[in-house]
Amino acid sequence: MDARMWHRQATFTQTPLPDPVPVEQFDGLPPGEQDAYWTQLSEGLPALVVPSVLTARAEQRLDRLVAVNIRRPPGAKSVIGIDAPFAVGKSTFVKAWAQGAYRNRVASGAPEVLPTWTPEPELSADWVPQVYITLRAASKIKDINASILAFLGYPSEGLVRVTTTRVVKVLATHGVRLLIVDDVHMLTTTHADGRAVLDYLKFLNTELGELGATMILVGAHLESGPLYQDPQIVGRLDKITLTPYEITTVGGRADWQLFLRRLEELLLPYFDTLPTGTFSRELAGHVWRRTQGYVGDTVRLVTEAMLAGFDDAQDLMTRDLMQAVALSARAAASEADLLSAAAAPSNRRNRKQRADVS
Ligand SMILES: Nc1ncnc2c1ncn2[C@@H]1O[C@H](COP(=O)(O)OP(=O)(O)OP(=O)(O)O)[C@@H](O)[C@H]1O
Ligand SMILES: [Mg+2]
Repeated sequence: MDARMWHRQATFTQTPLPDPVPVEQFDGLPPGEQDAYWTQLSEGLPALVVPSVLTARAEQRLDRLVAVNIRRPPGAKSVIGIDAPFAVGKSTFVKAWAQGAYRNRVASGAPEVLPTWTPEPELSADWVPQVYITLRAASKIKDINASILAFLGYPSEGLVRVTTTRVVKVLATHGVRLLIVDDVHMLTTTHADGRAVLDYLKFLNTELGELGATMILVGAHLESGPLYQDPQIVGRLDKITLTPYEITTVGGRADWQLFLRRLEELLLPYFDTLPTGTFSRELAGHVWRRTQGYVGDTVRLVTEAMLAGFDDAQDLMTRDLMQAVALSARAAASEADLLSAAAAPSNRRNRKQRADVS
């Protein structure tokens, strides 16, 4: 990922989907048009990022935290930590949020050209208000510098001292106001390099603070990791925790059904033989058991089942169609656990016999 790709992704917002064609009308189209529409639909649906009820709340909080951070004095910026279990959708969420903010800030319509600005009189530079990097296993300071420099289009060779100076300079030159570091759970402080990286992130946050910029750290299970144990980080950390949808509380079930309802609003125009409520009411429990409320798995399950039903000329959704969709290994394993827990025989008579004997 570099600034150009980020700019392209953020500014190119055209939906990957065709305009919806009602199923009855589709049946009357010539074969060539049917095939073209089908290709567009089946290729576009997997690329869809669906707005989630839970992340909408996290987005609002993120907006507020960043706005407050801008107003804080230079040396006292807070760090934002986004924590969630693996595969909940952290990266998708933070990218969609950041790129939305990018669009609002950089009102350039040309996806191929980076905007420019003048950081100092007589100096024109690419304007790159956001930098997104990913931490890899056993990353060292030089790797972080290399990621930032590569994102901004600079060479990364040289001693750490030299690249650090370069990083600090180019963050200012390109007007960086947001540094997103993804996969920070890769950070381990059991070796000296890891501890140095943790200290380096603190240093970067201080330098960014001087520019009025915010650092966002994104990762899985951060609560138990070194980042959230570090007193200096914790002292200035604003935490956002993302979770899958849960259905054990009334509020949780309402959120889950609302999310499925939004998904229907988006998808049923393409599959208009399915009645509203198919997923949000009739199959809400079934979908949850299969996906455990993970957004990515849910979108995949619903879209693939709909496409299969459409192609098979089935007007209604069936459990067989849904069961035929293969999901992630995580979802499959959790579903198997749920099923075996549900099918477990009663233990009571064994317990009672033991109690009676003693
Ligand atoms: N809002 C969404 N709409 C559609 N698909 C989504 C959405 N959010 C996440 N996904 C899908 O779910 C999967 C996991 O998402 P993502 O990679 O963002 O999760 P993550 O929490 O960053 O995972 P990891 O812990 O591996 O870093 C991806 O395939 C992604 O495309
Ligand atoms: Mg991720």
